[in-house]
Amino acid sequence: MRTPFVAGNWKMYNTVAEARHLVSEMVPGLQAIIGVEKVLCPPFTALLAVRALLEGSDIGLGAQDMHWEPSGAFTGEVSPPMLAELCQYVIIGHSERRTYFGETDETVNHKVHAAIAHGLTPIVCVGETLAENEAGRTSEIVSRQVRQGLYGLDLSSIGEGQGNTSLVIAYEPVWAIGTGRAATAEGANLVVSEVIRPALLEMFGEQVSQAVRVLYGGSVKASIAAVFFSQPDIDGALVGGASLKVSEFVPIVQAASR
Ligand code: PGA
Repeated sequence: MRTPFVAGNWKMYNTVAEARHLVSEMVPGLQAIIGVEKVLCPPFTALLAVRALLEGSDIGLGAQDMHWEPSGAFTGEVSPPMLAELCQYVIIGHSERRTYFGETDETVNHKVHAAIAHGLTPIVCVGETLAENEAGRTSEIVSRQVRQGLYGLDLSSIGEGQGNTSLVIAYEPVWAIGTGRAATAEGANLVVSEVIRPALLEMFGEQVSQAVRVLYGGSVKASIAAVFFSQPDIDGALVGGASLKVSEFVPIVQAASR
């Protein structure tokens, strides 16, 4: 049994003041929901403020990216130990990082290794573009992203849930992100069951392939969340735009609660 997992990816939205306001409004609703691992991923600048507001709650905190080196002359970057002081999770390989900032499967792989080494749970994003989808290359692309992104990991010691370093994968078809055009739940489930879990099985064995939470991401809204969560291989969602609204995000998390 995998614990449902829902993370809100705020992207480049919310100043510290705005973040405080949103989190204060959101926490009571989120706190009331049990049986779901819930995570907020604000921008770096708001991590400290949000952390203070989440203290004593069961709501986790994550960053949206990081460098893989522990320190160094990398202007503008943030390192794993810097994040480990502030949060428990980190999104790695989001398609916006891949598209606009040159993230590759190789840099994703460095970052995933570094996250786990520093006790952070990586939320590793994979997904095909519209052109790749239309060319019938979804399986090939997603399989490659999983295999190269997770290459060489030792997952023997990872667990599930808060307090454990874990590994979470988000299947986010690029054409569904921020477009209002979500994948079908059945289609997304098929990619997870036919491509992502088989790749995990081959790389890490049966136990890991069944234990890793795999999320769907891309235009998830409260009105459609339950359909995705009813799919056998989809364990939750990585939510962008709708995570900025209390009236959307709280019902999405609620839908994931069993
Ligand atoms: P969206 O973004 O929910 O706004 O489509 C999802 C994501 O980018 O993780």
